[in-house]
Amino acid sequence: MSKLKIIVGTTRPTRNADRVVTWVEAAAAAYGAFEVEVLDLRDWPLPFFAEHFGTVGDINDPAYSQPIVKAWNRAIQDSDAYLVVTGEYNHSIPGALKNAIDTVWLSNGFRNKPVAAVGYSAGIGGGIRALEHLAQIMVETEAVPLRNTVVMPFANDAFADSGRPTNPATDAALQVLLDDLAWWSTALERARAAGELVPGRNRLRDLILKAETAGVPTA
Ligand SMILES: Cc1cc2nc3c(=O)[nH]c(=O)nc-3n(C[C@H](O)[C@H](O)[C@H](O)COP(=O)(O)O)c2cc1C
Repeated sequence: MSKLKIIVGTTRPTRNADRVVTWVEAAAAAYGAFEVEVLDLRDWPLPFFAEHFGTVGDINDPAYSQPIVKAWNRAIQDSDAYLVVTGEYNHSIPGALKNAIDTVWLSNGFRNKPVAAVGYSAGIGGGIRALEHLAQIMVETEAVPLRNTVVMPFANDAFADSGRPTNPATDAALQVLLDDLAWWSTALERARAAGELVPGRNRLRDLILKAETAGVPTA
């Protein structure tokens, strides 16, 4: 089974995230393809990013500035797939979520793994702008952001007392997302097992170094 981590992107008191995550977690567990764990940023009070090469130590087992930073990098590394649940803050993802993604530093935790996302907002946008930003951000981590998302407009009224979304299209969208996540997770697990490329930035650095050593002008 693929290991799936559901990342809860908002932390404020009274957040709508709780109802969304309860529904998403139950659906992901019932789907049958995943060993599901929730990483709630409320339980991960990460410091604002303050790492530098002096905090890293052994690059193969970085120490980082605080134990929680190391633990967070490990928690992200120890997964095959991710499902981010986030509200929209000022047309983007919440700062706490961006910081948590930035904190996965030098460990390549997200690399070559699929990331799906469920967005919601108080207005008609349903979190779509946050999800678009998230996809851009995840590309830089070398994760594979997925096309099919769930968007939930008018989040304050999006759930019935049963805990199910009032709009049946929302349930359907989550099933499509889980299908994609399971397919990509299996595909990328196989691909990673067959061998991964060295990260592009390292290959680029090595090629430039080689060209410089050979005396070939690089500019
Ligand atoms: C700081 C802040 C910024 C927000 N910006 C937007 C926004 O740009 N677009 C939108 O539709 N809703 C916006 N909202 C409404 C949230 O999307 C909505 O309250 C959602 O439930 C937030 O997630 P949470 O309840 O889990 O914190 C904002 C809310 C906050 C607190």
